[in-house]
Amino acid sequence: MSDKCILVTGGAGYIGSHACIELLQANYRVVVLDNLSNSKAESLARVEKITGKVPVFIQGDVRDSQVLSDIFTQYDIYAVMHFAGLKAVGESCLLPTKYYQNNVGGTLVLVEVMAKFGVKKIIFSSSATVYGEPDTVKYTETLPVYGATNPYGKSKAMSEDILKDLAAADVLANDKMPWKVILLRYFNPIGAHISGLIGEDPNGTPNNLIPYVSQVAVGKLERLSVFGDDYPTIDGTGVRDYIHVVDLVKGHLAALQSFEGMSGCKAYNLGAGKGYSVLQIIAAFERHTDNKIPYQIVARRIGDIAENYADPSLALRELNWQTEKNLDDMVSDTWRWQSQNPNGYEVN
Ligand code: NAD
Ligand code: UFG
Repeated sequence: MSDKCILVTGGAGYIGSHACIELLQANYRVVVLDNLSNSKAESLARVEKITGKVPVFIQGDVRDSQVLSDIFTQYDIYAVMHFAGLKAVGESCLLPTKYYQNNVGGTLVLVEVMAKFGVKKIIFSSSATVYGEPDTVKYTETLPVYGATNPYGKSKAMSEDILKDLAAADVLANDKMPWKVILLRYFNPIGAHISGLIGEDPNGTPNNLIPYVSQVAVGKLERLSVFGDDYPTIDGTGVRDYIHVVDLVKGHLAALQSFEGMSGCKAYNLGAGKGYSVLQIIAAFERHTDNKIPYQIVARRIGDIAENYADPSLALRELNWQTEKNLDDMVSDTWRWQSQNPNGYEVN
């Protein structure tokens, strides 16, 4: 329990809003900075409804050094959770500079202002995508961060590099107040808060499997396209390590607590350590919704890999964190959110 103040960039978004809940419930104070480019302020009203506590909300851009300076002047920030970023893989291939500008540029401006104010603890939202296409399906943190297949993934790898270099520079300079950097490499976050009040609310037609399946289940979309059934996996469809968003944000709180004894830069995988295929996900949705999920098998999606899952043992050893929720929890919580909010945060 703590009354430390955490700056949560991107705190109105899917993962950031769940992080706000866990932080407020653990008695942290929360300042959210979000430009609402991919979210709605309603998510924070729901956070308040769930926790009975009000996060401070500043609508602004993480690339705006003046807004950041004002925040660090006004609030005694202990550490930053940096969720703000754009995340649509397909869009990043069409508009690469938008992704480098927002994700890499945003990280750069943020750390410069943090250093100016002597706030040198950051937890960064990275992704399993930074491992590129390694020759293994089980990803450990010792794999090289190399070969991300799209500008989004590269923007995460570049941001990681900036943060690693900052930490290394302080070691070289023997800085007495060195950077403490934690890179959290997410596998596939899904699910929603158990209340059904907050969840993932993608703009337009979803690109990712779970929001797509749940919109089919609720009748907003007609049928799912399964991208390939000829992969060398259990049933030929793609296998991923799905992690409940609440487990994921609990990993962030564990990371926050580990700042006390650490120095430099550490990277951790946040995943469940096992994978499920697309057909297994469809079957789980059918069980929980009592609906058939219409689907068709189509060609593989360019850039997809067959299978991956995390080796999450380092996070267990060093952060004392592991996932607690199973696939049924992930699907039933997703379904509660989707069925209670068929149009997301829009007034239904
Ligand atoms: P999201 O889009 O729901 O949330 C991101 C938030 O950041 C949004 O509220 C958006 O408005 C805000 N934002 C974007 N650019 C900003 C800027 N320049 N200034 C201020 N606010 C800005 O996405 P999410 O799923 O919650 O993801 C959070 C973070 O986790 C992102 O950095 C994402 O890349 C990373 N991540 C997500 C996944 C996933 O599958 N959801 C997987 C791996 C990593
Ligand atoms: N899939 C379908 N049909 C769909 C959508 C997805 O069959 O309509 C399949 C994909 O081919 C894949 C699996 O479902 O086999 C999961 O696909 P997602 O798009 O949900 O997730 P990805 O693993 O491709 O990528 C996600 C994020 C990335 C992030 C990565 C790891 O989109 O940004 O997880 O965190 F980097």
